[in-house]
Amino acid sequence: MINIAIDGPSGAGKSYLAREVSRRLGFIYVDTGAMYRAIGLYMLRNGIDPHITAQVVHALKKVSVTINYENGEQAVILNGENVNAFIRTPEVSMAASNVSAIPEVRAFLLSLQKDLAAASNVVMDGRDIGTVILPDADVKIFLCASPEARAKRRLVELLEKGTATTLEEVLADMEKRDENDRNRKIAPAVPAADAFILDNSDLDREGTVITALEMIAAKTGITAD
Ligand code: DC
Repeated sequence: MINIAIDGPSGAGKSYLAREVSRRLGFIYVDTGAMYRAIGLYMLRNGIDPHITAQVVHALKKVSVTINYENGEQAVILNGENVNAFIRTPEVSMAASNVSAIPEVRAFLLSLQKDLAAASNVVMDGRDIGTVILPDADVKIFLCASPEARAKRRLVELLEKGTATTLEEVLADMEKRDENDRNRKIAPAVPAADAFILDNSDLDREGTVITALEMIAAKTGITAD
């Protein structure tokens, strides 16, 4: 199977890039952030503080996370319920970031992620895909952009969804989450030694996709139709 790993900080456009690249190459898109979000959502719904490791680990026993594909879109199934509609709020983002720093949570999702990559040609996005989950991935791309560029894009997304917020709030949230994700002891969001670094601060979405497809073609010879 061909495995393409896309890692990077939040708001760099990993999901769009991974979804587009997988569509153009005919691969399956696996969004691992959505799995952490589902676990974060479970904790919030059940009154469990995502910072308190012992409580989260205990509650994890009652959690089941799986993935379905509905009309080509990944649906995250939390204890039998498709939770896609509930996992993109700022509260769930922060809860996901907090639970993702807990080793037991990462271990809980590891086999699901590895199994998906073993079964299909995938483009998988996350933070530790090239370093931990798929260290032998055929292509690794670390997608990044300046915090300001990322916050502006995230703001547009949130406003489109009707979430009332400001650039300052989004930037502050993003910097806090970056700090969390980059500096944690386990699986920090850092590039693999053999990753291509793609900084898209000055690229639009299509420019980012084209650059990534060039990197993939250079490494594997696979091109989009
Ligand atoms: O990519 P995202 O914003 O949907 O991810 C949500 C959170 O989950 C993010 O703060 C970091 C964490 N995460 C992770 O630790 N490892 C991954 N492979 C994917 C996401």
